[in-house]
Order: sequence, then C-alpha cells, then structure tokens
Amino acid sequence: MTQPRDILITSALPYANGPIHIGHLVEYIQTDIWARFQKMRGHNCWYVCADDAHGTPIMLKARQEGITPEELIARVADEHRADFDGFRIGFDHYHSTHSPENRHYASLIYERNRDAGHIAKRTIEQAYDPVEQMFLPDRFIKGECPKCGAADQYGDNCEACGASYSPAELKHPHSAISGAVPEQRQSDHYFFKLADFEDLLKTWTRAGSLQGQVANKLDEWFDAGLKEWDISRDAPYFGFEMPDHPGKFFYVWLDAPIGYMASFQHLCDSPKGQAAGLHFDHFWEPESPAEVYHFIGKDIIYFHALFWPAMLHGAGFRTPTAIFAHGFLTVDGQKMSKSRGTFIKARTYLDHLNPEYLRYYFAAKLGSGVDDIDLSLDDFQARVNSDLVGKVVNIASRTAGFISKRFDGRLAAELASPALFETFAEANQRIADAYEAREYSRAVREIMILADQANQYIDEQAPWVVAKQEGRDAELQRICTQGLNLFRLLIGWLKPVLPATAEAAEQFLQIEPLTWSQLETPLLDHGIAKFKPLMTRIEPKQIEAMLEASKEDLARATS
Ligand code: 2FM
Ligand code: ZN
Repeated sequence: MTQPRDILITSALPYANGPIHIGHLVEYIQTDIWARFQKMRGHNCWYVCADDAHGTPIMLKARQEGITPEELIARVADEHRADFDGFRIGFDHYHSTHSPENRHYASLIYERNRDAGHIAKRTIEQAYDPVEQMFLPDRFIKGECPKCGAADQYGDNCEACGASYSPAELKHPHSAISGAVPEQRQSDHYFFKLADFEDLLKTWTRAGSLQGQVANKLDEWFDAGLKEWDISRDAPYFGFEMPDHPGKFFYVWLDAPIGYMASFQHLCDSPKGQAAGLHFDHFWEPESPAEVYHFIGKDIIYFHALFWPAMLHGAGFRTPTAIFAHGFLTVDGQKMSKSRGTFIKARTYLDHLNPEYLRYYFAAKLGSGVDDIDLSLDDFQARVNSDLVGKVVNIASRTAGFISKRFDGRLAAELASPALFETFAEANQRIADAYEAREYSRAVREIMILADQANQYIDEQAPWVVAKQEGRDAELQRICTQGLNLFRLLIGWLKPVLPATAEAAEQFLQIEPLTWSQLETPLLDHGIAKFKPLMTRIEPKQIEAMLEASKEDLARATS
C-alpha cells in the first residue's frame, strides 16, 4: 500500500433543537461511507461531528418548554446520538458547540482576526421587540407580504408568492414571539471583513478544493462582491459572550464550524486520541500535510467555502483540503411532507426498517455532485430486495449449507475457479476509485454486476445437483468455497455501506474485520460458522407502517 494518509472528516453539525430526519441522513450516511472506506484502506482517518447548540431558535425553544437551553441541548444531544448510533454513523467523536473547547477556539479565532485588523465595528439599526426586550432576527418578524398581501408571512420571504424582501418592507409587522409591533433600534455590531481575503479565497477556490458547480457559484459571489459579515448578536442570546465586549455574543454561525475543531480537540485529548498519538496542530497548522474534508449540504456553501477558510486563514490555521457539497432529498419526487407522512424522522424509520436498507439505497443513488436525490419508496423496496437479499446474501445461502453439512464447516484448500476469483479481484481498484471519488452509485453498480456473475456461476455449477452425485465431494466443496469467496469479496466491497451486515458476515466466515487489501487473496482451508440469514426482505407493510407513524408524529407535534 501507499503511505497511510492522515485524514480528518466532518459532517455538518445538526441544530440541537429538533430531531434527525431522513433528509439529514443523506449527509451522515454519505460521510460515514467515505470515512469507513478510508479506514478500510488503512488510512489514519478520523470522523468528528457535534451538535450545533447556539442561537435564538434554541434559546426560544427552551423557553417555550420551560427549561434552560442547557437542559434542551443535553436532551437533544442524547436523542441525536441514539439516532446516529441506530444508523451506524461511526463518529470517532461527537461533541457540542457549547463546550469549553469551542469557547477557546471561537475566542482565539476571533481575537487573532481582530488583532490582524479583520474585524470592523459599525452601528446598525434593527427590529426590536419592546415586550421581550430583544432584537428580532428576520425569522421572528411576521406581517403581510408587501407584494401579494398574504397574511402572517416571515420577515425575509413570502411563502405564498415567493417574493423576498427585507423585514422593514413587511406591512403590519409584529414580533412572532410577543406579537408586539417592533421598533427600530440601534446597536453596535462587529463585522468580519471578508473582502480582506478575496485573493486567498480565489486561489483556494481554483486550487481544486471545490466541485465544479460549487466553484461556479463562488464566482457569482465574487462578482457580486464580498460583503462584511455580522458576527455579533445582542443579549439575550444563547451562545458565547465576546471576550472583549460584555453583553455581545458570537453569532451561532461564527462558532458552528469552529465546532469541527473543538470536537477534534476533544478527540485528541481523549484516551482514544492519546492512544493513537493524535495531535491537533498536526492537522490544523498552516501547510499541514494532513487532509481536512467537510461534507455539507448545498445550502451552507457560503459559510464553508467563504467565511470558514477566511476565518481560519486570518487566525493562522490551515484551510480545508476540500468541501464536498450534496443536494437535498426528495421522497417520491416531492419535498418531504409532514401531511403525506414522508417527513420521516430517523427514529421512526428505525422503529420499522433496517438502517442498512437506507444506507444501501442512498449509496446506490449518490454521486459526487450537488444534485438532489430521490427516495422513491417503491424503488427502495424493489432494489433492496432484489440487490441485497436476492443477489448478495443469496450467494451465501445457496452455498453455505453444503459446507456446514458435508464438510464440517471447512472451506476447501483450493478454489474451483481461481481465474474467476482473479476477475473479481481485479475490480478492487475500480471500486476503490469510485468510493474515493464519492461516486458511490458507480461503486454499487460495479458490485451488483459482479453479484450477478457470482449468481450465474452458482446457477451453472448447480451445487445442489453435484451434491447428489457420487464421487463429486471434492468438487462440491470447491464450488461452494468459490461461491463463498465471491460472497466475501462482495461483502468486503459493500462494508463501508453495510457495516452491520458485514460484521455479521465476518462472524459467519469467522474472520477478522475485513480490510481492503485482504480482498486480494481468497479464504481457503478455513472453518466457518453455520449460516444464518443476514438480511430479510422489505415487506410493503413495513413502509406503510412507517408512513402512518410519521403522520402520527405530526399529529402529536401539532396537538
Ligand atoms: O445548517 C445547519 O443545520 C447548521 N447547523 C450547520 C452547521 S455546520 C457547521 F458549520 F457547523
Ligand atoms: Zn407574497
């Protein structure tokens, strides 16, 4: 193998005020597959994430529930962790932005940028709720749409006619919190001077750190001009107070990406990180040879491709190696909908279906671009049943019984067709290349073509016929050994996608956890365990029950 690479991978931090749903899972599954793949290849790969715990919505939600923000974020963090575990998202560490490490790095990054002259102070005028005694973010001002007159629209855009406007244009504005008519009040704010970093950002954008579509988007933003970014908020606010301005807080989006660093720092300090000799600086110093990748949704590119590298650079840290943006999820061709039951929470899915099914389906759909992906529920059921149950698992179930019953669970010392094994093993590199390029759909396509070939081999050899014929025992054992070896390759290639199934297969084959390089050599003269079905078919009633339960979740949430 080539030199092991040092790789740090992140997924976007979910807000700590709501549940994980299947739309979020596209990203966590996409990232987890990549992290598991890199680990299987023998790289020093670390995958971290955290809850995004600050901001006005979290403060207000806690207030609504009559609890403290700290209590809310602790509860939600537990729920998020359980959901991610359920889907086998294998974070090396899951942290919170409301943590000492994050306070440290947020202050440090701010202060270094300030000392280098990248922070400006300006007085701005903003809507203020005189009853709640707080400034109102745009989302918390409601009124009539200035274009179409629709009532009860938010301060930034109209859901009825789609118009965007500034909150000052709303007719009959009122605070969504108290109902009071907002006043305009002045306050000092602190701005990050993004334009100071234009040259850096242009170079970084063109250095291959971004997908083509994303780089184009950035060019539009460069053309429009880089504006100063307001990084401060007035009290009351749930977040970190600015070290040099009492009563002013860092805007949630300032400390959110810094949460990647905080989570990694915590990992470095943990027994696991110490045992691995992990050092924060090795990954984050300028010119670091380590690789840092952020998987994100296409809606938060501005934050990750402009503000984030600029802030890092301004504070003397390295910039990310690449940002990988993905599209949104639709269900049956439409936006997820609470009333159709397609707004499916991770927990509701787990109550009804095996997480490996969804991991597989997303993998089969995901490419390296930012296109949206569709979960078509009929196609989901058909593909999982035909590919995973019908093709992959089936190979083992068609051959394992003979090995157990006739050969005391022992694989033959040679294959029936070493040439066929070689043909399969030649795909190792192609499949690895597809995973590396995040072309999971291509990897899955390759794997399924080979699964078809493996089944065809078994059809042709018909071990059930050979088993009934005298004097063909050795041949039978070699045929079944061949089948199980092809199965082992298929499962090895699918392991980043199907970690639980792969683990069960490793137990069945009585082998150590599979790594990519092991897939070059066959498993011979080796005892295996009795075969147990590794996966069952999806029944339509399971999907129906999940949709029904999602509608009930909605009813409960609104009653
Ligand atoms: O858009 C969101 O859901 C944010 N909570 C993502 C933050 S990602 C990172 F910057 F922390
Ligand atoms: Zn309107």
